[in-house]
Amino acid sequence: MRHDGQWWAEAVVYQVYVRSFADSDGDGVGDLAGVRSRLGYLELLGVDALWLSPVNPSPGLDHGYDVTDPREVDPLLGTLDDLDGLITDAHAHGLRVLVDVVPNHTSDQHEWFRAAVSSAPGSPERARYHFRPGRGDRGEQPPNNWQSVFGGPAWTRLTATDEDGTSRPDEWYLHLFAPGQPDLNWENPEVWADLEKTLRFWCDRGVDGLRIDVAHGMAKAAGLPDDRRQPGWTPVSDELVDPRFDQDPVHDVHRLIRAVLDHYPDRMAVGEVGTVRDDARWAGYVRRDELHLAFHSALRDAAYDAVAVREAIDRTLAAAGSAGAPAVWTLSNHDLVRPATRYGEGADGPARARAMALVALALPGTAYLYHGDELGLPDVELPAEARQDPTWELSGHTDPGRDGARVPLPWEGEGPGYGFTTGTPWLPMPEAYGALTAADQLEDPNSTLSLYRHALDLRRSHPAFHGDQVEWFGAPAGCLAFRRTGSTLVCALNAGDRPVPLPPGDVLLTSAPLTDCGELPPDTAAWLA
Ligand code: NOJ
Repeated sequence: MRHDGQWWAEAVVYQVYVRSFADSDGDGVGDLAGVRSRLGYLELLGVDALWLSPVNPSPGLDHGYDVTDPREVDPLLGTLDDLDGLITDAHAHGLRVLVDVVPNHTSDQHEWFRAAVSSAPGSPERARYHFRPGRGDRGEQPPNNWQSVFGGPAWTRLTATDEDGTSRPDEWYLHLFAPGQPDLNWENPEVWADLEKTLRFWCDRGVDGLRIDVAHGMAKAAGLPDDRRQPGWTPVSDELVDPRFDQDPVHDVHRLIRAVLDHYPDRMAVGEVGTVRDDARWAGYVRRDELHLAFHSALRDAAYDAVAVREAIDRTLAAAGSAGAPAVWTLSNHDLVRPATRYGEGADGPARARAMALVALALPGTAYLYHGDELGLPDVELPAEARQDPTWELSGHTDPGRDGARVPLPWEGEGPGYGFTTGTPWLPMPEAYGALTAADQLEDPNSTLSLYRHALDLRRSHPAFHGDQVEWFGAPAGCLAFRRTGSTLVCALNAGDRPVPLPPGDVLLTSAPLTDCGELPPDTAAWLA
């Protein structure tokens, strides 16, 4: 393995969705000063780094993933000084800092896009994005049949206004996400130069790592051909490839990112590599001269089932190993239904989420935790009028969107703000969050927070946490057990429906009490050494 001694190879990174973490000024939206005031909590929790979801100015359509200036801070969240202070304080607490970078698209309010809208077809201003005339006699149909990830066509037509005030239809522009997120044209050198500037900007400010949004995006299939996987096309080959994502030239973008980061000591980039054709293509993103790390979707997409979880672990280790990169384990982020809800109803979900947290934290590689999962927060079913995620509207109200995982964290006390804010939280916090506050859980040795603290402490200090592969043990049906290679650390998960004997070893930690006869109950994981 090539990553000996690199801090990110084994680190536990805590994702802070800034607007939902802690609000310092009572406007109901979390901010950088709020994060800064809670660094002691992160140190107590025992993570190594925090990843800040986008902090750039943004109209907030996709909460920061629609950026108007990649080298500024959104006034809603604070100032560049606040960010500098946060980085300095985080380092003083022994925490590294990652920021999100969004190279695939900008906001439609970015000065580049505004200039493009007011410029003529064929102008250099339009060449920074993907503008095309429409199809059909009057250009009334989109240039191709691509669909947006959030629902609906991936093209929107502009309306031009002439000097005399009359309007007429104009060109179409491409947006793989919301219409307010136009895709940049990565065949344009200005776009490359701007990313390079952004990367240097963050490295110069002292951030330790970058999370690259939609890392499999940027390059589109040459000529923007129709997507033959859409209805209306007779398949012409078995290899139906998504023309929107994972195109070979994207790797040059990652080579640029790597080349810039290599100029700074100890910096890393982790890519959000979404669905790609296969694991060989996935591994391409973490080649020696590309990203240091990439998220793999197998474990987070796996059902709560011992066979599925084991397969996901094997796949992820094999894919990362084939490129010589550390594996990245994550069960959750701001785009997914929270594990405590996703893994089952009633009390099952939270118990399973605790068990799966021990599985993920036992594995070789680095782990990414999403804020609030350490409190066992459930996903929240929000009333339609409270929903803010663009997916809700763009899917024609068929997909409720991702707001349920973005409801602010309950820190202490009573609603409506539960210590998150003295004002009105930007998404309503349910009463159920009142029983899950960080303050209460810190006092309770059986809480989910105490489990995470204990697990992270062991992971950091116990000598058994080494070895970069896993060896599987035979396990009863519905269960799994593995040992880290060359180490004594064993992790067992009972995803079945009756208690089972534990593998041999001294119990270090369990996600729930063992049975009276010392067996591992259903929906429980144990660490032994
Ligand atoms: C992935 C981010 O995680 C998600 O929140 C965002 O909506 C899309 N990329 C578009 O930037």
